[in-house]
Amino acid sequence: RNIYILDEVDSTNDEAKRLAEGGEGHGTVIIAKKQTAGKGRRGRSFESPMGCGLFMSMIIRDDILPSRASMLTLVMGIAVTKALETLTGLNVQIKWPNDVLAGGKKICGILTEMSMQIECMNYLVIGCGVNVRNESFPEEMKDRATSVLLEGVDLVSYSELAAGILEQFEVYYRMFMRNQDLTEIVDEYNEYLINKNRQVTVLNPKDQYEGLALGINTRGELMVQTRQEVKYVTAGEVSVRG
Ligand code: BTN
Repeated sequence: RNIYILDEVDSTNDEAKRLAEGGEGHGTVIIAKKQTAGKGRRGRSFESPMGCGLFMSMIIRDDILPSRASMLTLVMGIAVTKALETLTGLNVQIKWPNDVLAGGKKICGILTEMSMQIECMNYLVIGCGVNVRNESFPEEMKDRATSVLLEGVDLVSYSELAAGILEQFEVYYRMFMRNQDLTEIVDEYNEYLINKNRQVTVLNPKDQYEGLALGINTRGELMVQTRQEVKYVTAGEVSVRG
């Protein structure tokens, strides 16, 4: 596969999209030491100072049903979790759908973007940003964000971390591709799921409700037991608190 390592870029996801538009193939990885316009979900920005994090995006060009594409965020989530656990020994958890936490704070965010072409998926870009050496965060996020270093581990090698994530992604991606669902992953995913057995508030454009998060199902939906019924929350435009 092609791996591009850049000193600085606006966003590795945007760079991956530009490369994909130019015909770049499946599996290509873009890594930057700094992003000047790192993107998070819902138009938020992602703090990406020089040398503090692993900012990495991957191009996926495969026969993936558009309805299944968002599951790859969860596949990347478990890959990052496994890699961080193995390389740092930290206790890492997943906050569905797209955050990885250490000590209850965000240590990695994942952003999947899809390009469609007449009802078919053209390509996907999966980006992950791991906070590695940040010593502090802006005031408004410092209670919610952490880094490998702040958790007390001095992880020196970014290439080792990148390789670890890619290796794990490969394993879980294969499992995903067997049925294009999370059948083979769901049990392990739920073991890392911080939301599990917690009271959560689900906010989407249409309504808001509270319930007990039971875990994800094989479609990657978060199952939430409300007083009346079990709701299946999709990873789209929702926010889950709690
Ligand atoms: C989120 O927290 O909402 C998702 C954050 C995703 C950040 C990564 S860093 C590498 C890639 N490039 C981006 O611009 N965003 C993702």
